[in-house]
Amino acid sequence: MAAPAIHAFRGELLSVAHDPRDDPDAVRHEADGLLVIEAGLVVARGAYADLAERFAAVPVVNLPGLIVPGFVDAHVHYPQLDRIAAYGEQLLDWLERHIFPAEQAFADRAHADLVADAFLDELLRNGTTSALVFATVHEQSVDALFTAALARRMRIISGKVLMDRGPAGLADTPQSGDDETGALIARWRGRGRLGYAVTPRFALTSSDDQLHRAGALLKRHGEVLLHTHLAENPREIAAVAARFPDCADYLDVYDRFGLVGARSVFAHGVHLPDRSAMRLAQSGAGIAVCPGSNLFLGSGFFDFGQAEAFGIRTGLATDVGAGTTFSMLHTAGLAYQAALARGHRLDPFRALYLATAGSAGLLHIADRVGALEPGQEADFVVLDGAATPLLARRTAGASLADRLFALQILGDDRAIRQTWLMGECAWDRA
Ligand code: GUN
Ligand code: ZN
Repeated sequence: MAAPAIHAFRGELLSVAHDPRDDPDAVRHEADGLLVIEAGLVVARGAYADLAERFAAVPVVNLPGLIVPGFVDAHVHYPQLDRIAAYGEQLLDWLERHIFPAEQAFADRAHADLVADAFLDELLRNGTTSALVFATVHEQSVDALFTAALARRMRIISGKVLMDRGPAGLADTPQSGDDETGALIARWRGRGRLGYAVTPRFALTSSDDQLHRAGALLKRHGEVLLHTHLAENPREIAAVAARFPDCADYLDVYDRFGLVGARSVFAHGVHLPDRSAMRLAQSGAGIAVCPGSNLFLGSGFFDFGQAEAFGIRTGLATDVGAGTTFSMLHTAGLAYQAALARGHRLDPFRALYLATAGSAGLLHIADRVGALEPGQEADFVVLDGAATPLLARRTAGASLADRLFALQILGDDRAIRQTWLMGECAWDRA
């Protein structure tokens, strides 16, 4: 049944709209809050006691649990859904052995449709309402994902993968990559909550010509993002250095082709020389931090200290299928451990920021989602701090920060009681 035009939810509300290191007032918490929604948007939010009178005529639904903004996964591969947890290799061998064969199947639109449906359902089960998503080299892989996202009213950004130096059966050409990207942008522009990202897979799988054309596409279409991989794994980095001996570092390869700017999202950035860090910060480009993937492929630990020192914009990402969980809660827990491995602490409020408004900022959608502020789209998650017997013991009587941290370390899809999109329930664990 469609929700009434104006309706409200009462419960415990928590959001972190800004990096709490920069803004001491970033954490917004109402122990007994009211979230008022009209036509899918938040129109008011505050303490129930403050708003109840003004909205006395509005129907109210009580939501037991901790209500936080829907998670924003800043980098994930939908075609890798069925190759998650593939054994035994680091990045380059893993791609050859497990991933490239699986991606070939997306030449078949019917296969792409089935996987896109399963993938988006998995996001919703895990409380993820927005994502920046890799498709495959096939134009129709993007059509499949966008069609499924449009039907669910999810905020999804994606693009056809450019990889003219990819393996046989999975390579486009500079011209076909250009043409198909242009056609997809024209076909999907302005539809639903969708966005486009020009998506060269990484430096190794595109010719100079294709990278150059990707830069031209960005210039031609000011509203799109650039989405690729950067400095993930030691062997990959060595191969990039060998192919581009004149470039100062990995980021410089992208820079030379006009791919580094405020709308660029680079996944990983695990091994960044300070020169790259400085250039990222100066250009406004950002890093989608993928701690689960980095652990699974033995890539290393993201340096949160370097990112902070240089002021690099960051968000959080699962990077499934190199990542081994769709849960942004669990990913935040892994980020905490990755940070600690390099001597840094990621407190639970900052982790929630990265998984919501931080990632949204990276994707240039922070005006729409990420903080449950008035004017934003009403995408939110109801977290269950007692989802398992252990979580229930651990969170009983705990402070807000302690409950949140326990959810970050122990939580996963089981802790998602409900996921709401534009004020309508899209997933209910019950
Ligand atoms: N680099 C290039 N392609 C990929 C991919 O599919 N996954 C990861 N983790 N890194 C990549
Ligand atoms: Zn990736």
